[in-house]
Amino acid sequence: MIGFLDSGFGGLTVMKEYLKKYPEYDYIYLGDQANAPYGPHSTERINGLVLKNVEFLIEKGCKMIIIACNTASADALRVVQQKYKGKPTILGVLVPAVEETLQKTRFGNIGVIGTRGTIKSNAYARELEKYSVLYTPTEKRANEKIKVYQQACPLLVPLVEEGMIKDTVSRMMLKKYLRPLKHAHVDALILGCTHYPLLQKEIERIMGKNCTVISSAKAAADAIGDYFRNHPDVEKQLSRKGGRTYYTTDCPERFSNLGSKFLGQKIEGIKVDV
Ligand code: DGL
Repeated sequence: MIGFLDSGFGGLTVMKEYLKKYPEYDYIYLGDQANAPYGPHSTERINGLVLKNVEFLIEKGCKMIIIACNTASADALRVVQQKYKGKPTILGVLVPAVEETLQKTRFGNIGVIGTRGTIKSNAYARELEKYSVLYTPTEKRANEKIKVYQQACPLLVPLVEEGMIKDTVSRMMLKKYLRPLKHAHVDALILGCTHYPLLQKEIERIMGKNCTVISSAKAAADAIGDYFRNHPDVEKQLSRKGGRTYYTTDCPERFSNLGSKFLGQKIEGIKVDV
């Protein structure tokens, strides 16, 4: 069983990408709607919430857990990985997006957008630095290092959740948030939040054709094939009956309504206490 963990229903954009590629596995999704949004919380609070949620998914029999929430991945991934030491395998969504971005950037000018928590953690910038050998600069720029420009976009999550994806207010906010990144001539932009794939078209339009936009949700699913090839022992433990269960720690109706939109198929959330 593969478990997904998120602050609410946003992580369903990540699960959607997995389901497209790997429909055969059994999946459990846990949305911590009672404590959403995670974006404004402190690192300590997120660590505590993620530990509890991981525990719940382990009890449900998950052999692999994906922390789909960018804020939770940024803050808590290392903490839970150190606690569980590979049993079960716990993965986040930052590194796949970072690897893809470093392979795609032409000039090494990289933008990252996310919640306040994700940007404050500096986790994307750290990982980009760590994996920067993956960037191949052109000969003219051989000695230049990557440059990372980060922008918190706190209003985008509520706008998406209110269904205002094509609204003029969302367009105005996107233009405001993306302006400094456009001025910095970023040529690759990481969508470092579960909600932003729903705004991807508009973001691409604003950034223009010289900027490649990378969805952390899609990058995470794209990377898992390689992960399975390198870790056949992990893949072998995963059950394959195509099962899907969706849990939420609060507001099952809201979770089911919005979750169905995020996943692109009708779902029923089951309320659980974690
Ligand atoms: N899931 C969060 C993320 O990807 C966005 C929503 C929230 O702040 O809880 O960062």
